[in-house]
Amino acid sequence: MRTTTTTSTLALLATSAHAALPHLSIAKRDSNLQTSPLARGLIRRDGGTVGTNVFDILAYSTGGAYYANVTVGTPPQDQVVILDTGSSDLYFDASTASTCETTGPYSCRGGTFNPQNSKTYSIADPAPAFNTSFGDGSTAVGPFGQDVVGLGDVLISNVQFGVAQEVNSTTGYAIGLMGVGYSENEAVQQHPYPNMPEVLRDTGVINSRLYSVFLNDVAEYSGSILFGGIDTTKYTGELATLNILADINTGAVDQFVQTVTGLSASISGKTIPLFSGGSPNEQAYTQTDTALPVLLDTGSSAWSVPTSYYEKYIAPNFKFVDSQGSCSCSHQNDDTTLTLEFGAKINITVPIREFVVPIYNATTNQPYPYPGGGEACAFMIVPAQSTGQGFQTLGDAILRSMYVVFDLDNGQLSLAQAKINSTDAPNIVTVSAGPSGIAKAVSTSYSAAPSNTNSIAPEVMNATGSFTVSTAQSTIGSATGTAAVPADAQVSGGASGTGSSSGGSSSSTGSKGAAAGLVVPRSDWSGLWVAGISVAMAVLGAGIVL
Ligand SMILES: *[C@@H]1O[C@H](CO)[C@@H](O)[C@H](O)[C@H]1NC(C)=O
Ligand SMILES: *[C@@H]1O[C@H](CO)[C@@H](O)[C@H](O)[C@H]1NC(C)=O
Ligand SMILES: *[C@@H]1O[C@H](CO)[C@@H](O)[C@H](O)[C@H]1NC(C)=O
Ligand SMILES: *[C@@H]1O[C@H](CO)[C@@H](O)[C@H](O)[C@H]1NC(C)=O
Ligand SMILES: *[C@@H]1O[C@H](CO)[C@@H](O)[C@H](O)[C@H]1NC(C)=O
Ligand SMILES: *[C@@H]1O[C@H](CO)[C@@H](O)[C@H](O)[C@H]1NC(C)=O
Ligand SMILES: *[C@@H]1O[C@H](CO)[C@@H](O)[C@H](O)[C@H]1NC(C)=O
Repeated sequence: MRTTTTTSTLALLATSAHAALPHLSIAKRDSNLQTSPLARGLIRRDGGTVGTNVFDILAYSTGGAYYANVTVGTPPQDQVVILDTGSSDLYFDASTASTCETTGPYSCRGGTFNPQNSKTYSIADPAPAFNTSFGDGSTAVGPFGQDVVGLGDVLISNVQFGVAQEVNSTTGYAIGLMGVGYSENEAVQQHPYPNMPEVLRDTGVINSRLYSVFLNDVAEYSGSILFGGIDTTKYTGELATLNILADINTGAVDQFVQTVTGLSASISGKTIPLFSGGSPNEQAYTQTDTALPVLLDTGSSAWSVPTSYYEKYIAPNFKFVDSQGSCSCSHQNDDTTLTLEFGAKINITVPIREFVVPIYNATTNQPYPYPGGGEACAFMIVPAQSTGQGFQTLGDAILRSMYVVFDLDNGQLSLAQAKINSTDAPNIVTVSAGPSGIAKAVSTSYSAAPSNTNSIAPEVMNATGSFTVSTAQSTIGSATGTAAVPADAQVSGGASGTGSSSGGSSSSTGSKGAAAGLVVPRSDWSGLWVAGISVAMAVLGAGIVL
């Protein structure tokens, strides 16, 4: 319930500004002025947080991904973007991108941006200044533009983003992306710029580079990203803070790397210890250490584990998974959980239903049948080769069971067991800047960590833009439940497509009956899955490599 303490002057400004919000001028950041928000000419918004719902869409990509609605331009053009903690640029697909003019599975289904239709657009850095490639082989190239971007209940002017004039999506529909990692990892050759977490902080919408992610159950339609605060009703038990590991290549904290220091399975009531005793720090990077360094990456669907770990710990306990990484969806109902210990400090328990997810045909939005009976599911723990970065990605399959506070300023992640399907009214607390911001904000059980002694990637300090904040006419991305999922992306049997485990056609709510026409002859299955697995491997391993 606690909110940030501010000077009374600041509070007054925020209050009076609230009534008349439309155009609050915000001074540009100035690296010469020190940390007091007032000294930097920033005005904090009343509240200190901004949030938006994120929704899972299986129909857009194998294994699903989490998307948020944002707007860009004047008048606003609606966009659906992938929420990605594993990269750092916001970008939209340009209406002129050739793939956006097609209708196939690589078309642009999340909306496109036409700069010519925006009267506030300008080019910040001409093409190909924005040139990015992702772990899945997708690429996006174009200029960096600047325009008004809408998120939650705010519109911010002069936000920089990539305009993908050339898009190659390898994993399904081309869709823009909102990377919320450290600006250090922006896809720029020369000119770093304040990215979304930094813009929000610079404008005073939030107090520090911090946000909380709650994906919710695989069978739920929407979760949320909350910038600047924590919703204490979205987790149970202790919220535990851990220091982010230094990047093995740069030596600084610039990506969300943590350690899985232990793992156990519970199968039909029997607990099976798998490994334990790993180091909760950079020692985990060494080959001999049992801990697994992992990148907490909402832009990846699966948890990628080293092949040796997969063979030793995962495969023997999940024998029903075939050599192609798929299985019958009936296993979603098994009495099985995995418990991951993070940073030698907190255990997170993940039910099997979160990592056995249906596979859909992106053209028809229908499930695939599994040759052995029932519908086909992908097993979202996958063996993976070394990335050369010292970590592998831990994606949505595990993150759904976690509440994660990403605290970029302090180089820390705070983790708790997600309270799936929480029906409590939200209790949003604002987090103030500084090392004890979270401790001051939460009254629930909290375990702090000593300061991170690694160097922490700083904010970009040479920004030339000056931001302006105003309130959006209606809150962007506010739908919940089925309504959160765009109609064209709803899959049969429910938008998030679990349920319908075995026994053929689910009681599909949407287009039904098509299942019979979709049965893939067994001989075709392998071909289908070869296509599927490359897609899966790509999405799954999609730790963004910049
Ligand atoms: C984008 O970057 C890649 C890798 O550096 C390079 O090969 C490619 O030519 C660049 N594309 C453009 C259009 O400049
Ligand atoms: C995109 O993919 C197509 C077909 O695979 C290829 O011809 C083209 O060169 C690729 N473009 C870029 C920018 O990588
Ligand atoms: C996590 O669970 C394992 C297995 O029950 C237990 O041995 C370990 O102490 C737990 N770790 C923490 C931090 O509670
Ligand atoms: C998806 O369904 C369409 C339409 O029935 C079909 O043409 C296509 O081959 C299917 N895709 C795969 C990968 O099976
Ligand atoms: C959460 O709610 C969905 C439906 O809204 C339900 O299918 C699912 O079983 C629930 N999950 C839990 C863990 O209760
Ligand atoms: C900011 O500008 C100064 C002076 O031109 C330069 O030394 C510094 O490297 C720049 N920093 C960044 C992050 O671009
Ligand atoms: C996102 O936008 C789509 C298309 O306008 C809409 O159907 C959906 O409800 C929106 N989602 C949220 C979470 O508001």
